[in-house]
Amino acid sequence: MKRYGRITGWGKAVPERILTNHDLEGMIDTSDEWIVTRTGIRERHIAGPGETSATMSVEACQKALAHAGVDPEEVDLIIVATSTPDYLCPPVSSMVQDQLGATHAAAFTLVAGCTGFVYGLVTASQFIETGLYKKVLVVGVETLSPGVDWTDRTTCVIFGDGGAAVLLEASDQPTGILSCELGSQGKDWDALIYPGGGCAKPFSEKVLRNREHYLRMDGRRVFKFAARTMTDSVTNVVKASGLTWDDIELIIPHQANARIIELAARRLGVPMEKVMVNIDRYGNTSAASIPLALCEAVEEGRLEPGDHVVFVGFGAGLTWAAAVLHWQPEEAIRAEDWPLPASLFRPVTQVRNAVWSTQVAARARLQDAAMAAMAPINAWQRRIRGG
Ligand code: COA
Repeated sequence: MKRYGRITGWGKAVPERILTNHDLEGMIDTSDEWIVTRTGIRERHIAGPGETSATMSVEACQKALAHAGVDPEEVDLIIVATSTPDYLCPPVSSMVQDQLGATHAAAFTLVAGCTGFVYGLVTASQFIETGLYKKVLVVGVETLSPGVDWTDRTTCVIFGDGGAAVLLEASDQPTGILSCELGSQGKDWDALIYPGGGCAKPFSEKVLRNREHYLRMDGRRVFKFAARTMTDSVTNVVKASGLTWDDIELIIPHQANARIIELAARRLGVPMEKVMVNIDRYGNTSAASIPLALCEAVEEGRLEPGDHVVFVGFGAGLTWAAAVLHWQPEEAIRAEDWPLPASLFRPVTQVRNAVWSTQVAARARLQDAAMAAMAPINAWQRRIRGG
């Protein structure tokens, strides 16, 4: 039997702290007017103490699992798309697996710049379609703020922190990804780069002095690439899906720059009402931007079961990816499979999800309490060992 990867749960996690354009006016030579007209950004979320790619991923995954009513122990695989892991080693995906309690899951981190989430979604679908896995979490997350040079006005106004996750589950009803395109234009690998800190130029006093541990970007080169690949790849995947433009209810592009999105929409002949834009409140959150925008689109009622949505990402590498997805978060109701009257399906699901969310929250509180209780014992043991 053919299997399909259906998104059944989703959740986002963003830091509470907000940095507005007006805040930036007090830090560097810039203006709210310049940032808004050139990028569409008004504010962005910035991670506070203790907030990292791992913690945001865990929160987003917990919400996605609670929404789908799935236990962490049922998850087969976790893919975390990010360019800003907590540590270079170990993979942040293993930390997420541990903190989530997804004891039976395989886990890996996927690095494909801002395109990472779409690469991850396509990869997850392949695992489900081959029958290897039934439940896969895909996370897009970034903690970019520590790697941004807050004295460089050409980059620091653009980026923000955040994360979001989706759960894909195996289904025998035709749904999920209908067509996709993944690409890489490796000749432009240096257009978006942390020059120092990797094995090519290990971290040193010189790297620090030259500020090479911070993100550098050739903005114009990226802009041209993004506008072209967004237009071409969306055209290609819509054509490959066998759908018409009228069948597409929403396009969710990577939120890099409102001007790139508007330019591509104009070239595609798609009205902006069909394009999801939330860059004004988040800035460019790289691999997190598409799943964050997906969560908001659902919250705002812009996606209905049965709709078709196009995801399109582009970024460091330079890479790009696009996919057409059939949005059907709940199994289409078939009377023969369901003993209750169909009208009861939705309320029953809501009650089940509410019970599950309460259980997840209670478990988290219990874990916190247990850790707090253990703290003095651990400290005592450390003292004894030290002595
Ligand atoms: N505030 C005020 N002025 C700024 C500024 C800022 N934050 N940043 C740059 N400027 C200045 C420049 O110094 C330049 O001044 P000059 O003309 O005196 O030399 C002027 O504004 C124009 O700079 P330019 O780089 O040509 O602006 P732009 O219109 O290309 O916009 C970006 C810059 C970065 C917003 C734009 O190139 C972009 O969005 N590129 C794509 C970036 C992207 O998507 N990256 C992530 C990929 S995933």
